[in-house]
Amino acid sequence: MTTLEELNYCYDFVLNLTIESGKVIRDAFQGSKKIETKAGDWDLVTQYDKKIEAILIDNLARRFPTHKFIGEETVSHSNFLPELTNVPTWLIDPIDGTTNFVHSFPHTCISIALAVNKELEIGIVYNPILEQLFTARRGHGAFLNGKPIKSSNVEELEHSLLCLEASYATIEDIRDIILGRLEAFVSIAHGIRTMGSAALTLCHVAMGAVEGYHSDNLMPWDVAAGVLIIREAGGMVIDTNGGEFNVMSPKLIAVGNCRLAKELVKLIKHADIKTHQRSLLLQTMK
Ligand code: IPD
Ligand code: CA
Ligand code: CA
Ligand code: CA
Repeated sequence: MTTLEELNYCYDFVLNLTIESGKVIRDAFQGSKKIETKAGDWDLVTQYDKKIEAILIDNLARRFPTHKFIGEETVSHSNFLPELTNVPTWLIDPIDGTTNFVHSFPHTCISIALAVNKELEIGIVYNPILEQLFTARRGHGAFLNGKPIKSSNVEELEHSLLCLEASYATIEDIRDIILGRLEAFVSIAHGIRTMGSAALTLCHVAMGAVEGYHSDNLMPWDVAAGVLIIREAGGMVIDTNGGEFNVMSPKLIAVGNCRLAKELVKLIKHADIKTHQRSLLLQTMK
């Protein structure tokens, strides 16, 4: 059992640590970086991703020795994604938006969440370049730089600004599906944005700056904090197929309200059917 008092302590501790770690991003932002690739040419990592993850985990582990950690760079290194258990677990993305960071494009952040009994309790997303600090505690609302935020109540896709990630369309077997969904989004919405940071995009849904976000190519550390921030801002996150969202297997639709969620599920299903039919037709023409 983690008491409210313990959660308060965890929150204060991790908030200070995250703000402090943000200095690493800020100091390195304009300079040259040592860039390596992971799964492919598009999958970048710098020495700063590793440095920040080490700072966060070392400090948290020292203060909370019984807690567990699921951090992007540790998982990438060991090639093993641990299960989420009832033990208090920190889900850490040391730099979300590494490609943006590499290009000195200012949408980049630290994303960190605490899950207790598999329930998200604390979420912090901090962009030290634009000085945006998004915070949430379960049941206590969501905030940007200390001011409450609220998700959009626009219910129609025709009146929405939508976000979608297209970077991973470089992976051939999913390219057609992504492009089909992009085409569907473009055909109906006010506009499409691709921010390059899942955590910050979720926060933009939470603050009502965009109505919806969809991606099937995410990992637990990309979304854990942002999901809590959206929920606490009055929005919702569901699985792409319309079912319950699972933070450990995050294929998601994140929106300001329930009606828009249903519309997006329908739009994506329809786009996928069209893509499938198109590929069958192409095969018969070969
Ligand atoms: C990436 C970003 C990006 C999303 C990718 C993620 P990273 O995280 O969140 O927006 O489209 O799927 O991997 O690698 O910059 O931490
Ligand atoms: Ca990465
Ligand atoms: Ca990430
Ligand atoms: Ca990252």
